[in-house]
Amino acid sequence: MGSKTSVMKNTSSFSDFFSLALSWEDKSKYGSHVSGQLARFIISRLYPRSYKYLSSRKIDCSPQKISTLNNVVLSERSSKIYKRTIADSKFWHIDAQKVKPTGLGIKIENSNATSFFDFSSTSLATINRWLSDRNPDFNFPEIEFLFSKISGAVKKWGFRRDAIKLKSQTHMPTFIGHACMTWFDGTYRLWTDPYFFPKSMKYPKFHQPLSPLDFPDAKHIVLISHSHSDHFHLSSLLRLPQDTCFIIPDCKRETPISIDMAFRLRQLGFIKITKLKWWQQISCGEFSITAAPFIGEQPLSSGKKSDLKDFNIGNVYCITHKKKRFLLMADSASDTRRHCLSLAHEIRSRMGPIDYLLGNRINWRLFPVQYLTSPIPQFLCYVPNHCLNVLQEPVMTPDDLSTIASIVEAKFIVPYAMGGAKWHADAAIGLDYFESNRSFPKGHPLSFDLQRSSIQQQLLENWNPLVLRPGQFIDSSGRVKWIKGHSSF
Ligand SMILES: [Fe+2]
Repeated sequence: MGSKTSVMKNTSSFSDFFSLALSWEDKSKYGSHVSGQLARFIISRLYPRSYKYLSSRKIDCSPQKISTLNNVVLSERSSKIYKRTIADSKFWHIDAQKVKPTGLGIKIENSNATSFFDFSSTSLATINRWLSDRNPDFNFPEIEFLFSKISGAVKKWGFRRDAIKLKSQTHMPTFIGHACMTWFDGTYRLWTDPYFFPKSMKYPKFHQPLSPLDFPDAKHIVLISHSHSDHFHLSSLLRLPQDTCFIIPDCKRETPISIDMAFRLRQLGFIKITKLKWWQQISCGEFSITAAPFIGEQPLSSGKKSDLKDFNIGNVYCITHKKKRFLLMADSASDTRRHCLSLAHEIRSRMGPIDYLLGNRINWRLFPVQYLTSPIPQFLCYVPNHCLNVLQEPVMTPDDLSTIASIVEAKFIVPYAMGGAKWHADAAIGLDYFESNRSFPKGHPLSFDLQRSSIQQQLLENWNPLVLRPGQFIDSSGRVKWIKGHSSF
């Protein structure tokens, strides 16, 4: 532990002004998804020509262009290295033990000022305490330089954590951004898919990314939907205390498309981890949480059935709090196993009507080869040759979400898991709702005025979309409000 300093003592921590990046040592044979080494292997060794072709020019989705590109994929699939790799069980079953975090890079945004904690010299638990403690009474020599740089600027800027007077007693859900929502029951603070961004002087003083430091609650519960990095964001999780309770999908082993989340959490020092199987229910404080199947966002969303053994493992969650039911369906859709509307019927029959349906609705259609330039290039390795020309829809369409809302009798649809603020758009993980303005143009994922069939129009009469900006919450009457200290611009 670092020495006590007068600089830090009795002051609020500024650690949420720093951006964090974990470093990994990856000695697995082909690399893992968590370290990023697997993605690099796939684009540089298995599909170098297809990747170069895709990334060097704009590819439209015309069948002719894709057919040409698929011929490149097929020729790469006949290479020795490809055949050898695909036949090796170590490619499909990653030895998670051979991949471990080695350190944490700390950076001030828009500055070259960086520092690095080496986990061999500074324990992760100590770093975690510094990141999650609102009033740490210790500091680290490693970041003294960074701290002095940021503290002067923050003081000059006039930031005080108390200036953002978050009403801790806010019981209704608050939108943090992307797929991260938070609730408070008076004892426990519940988070979904935490993805925290550093505060920055480039954003308005009273509209900053929120972090656990802004909430003075001591006990935390985290629900993880699936292991994609914008939902299972490990450096964000380091901002939560080590006794945080995690509820995660029941993932049994690490594959190219699913991270062994329990193992990775234990590597970061978290020990309270519960794997919740589909249709299992758990209670924590005033929250009742049920896991439902995560269908969709798989290598194949449609087309002929394949004999895939691996899936992108995940949970959809139904949270009940204060007699209100919230269904959270981030990134789920349909796949070769099941259609999302059939799942919606089962959720309705098991859980009863839903008050708030949270989901994303993006017209994201692509041919399998286009996975190579997405954050999930490994999906392509699961697509058999005869499906290469089949257009995929990995996430829900606007019509799917609307129809699910009517099936589960949702009173409100809350669009989420699509970014939300400038910091999300800057990181290319979604939309900046402010930039999108109050009236969203037709076809925009937040517009909700897309063309629908007359039957759907009838079904949709009963619900209303609630568009939340990061920092807004839903009050007990279903109205959207800003948490105290935030401006409505
Ligand atoms: Fe995802």
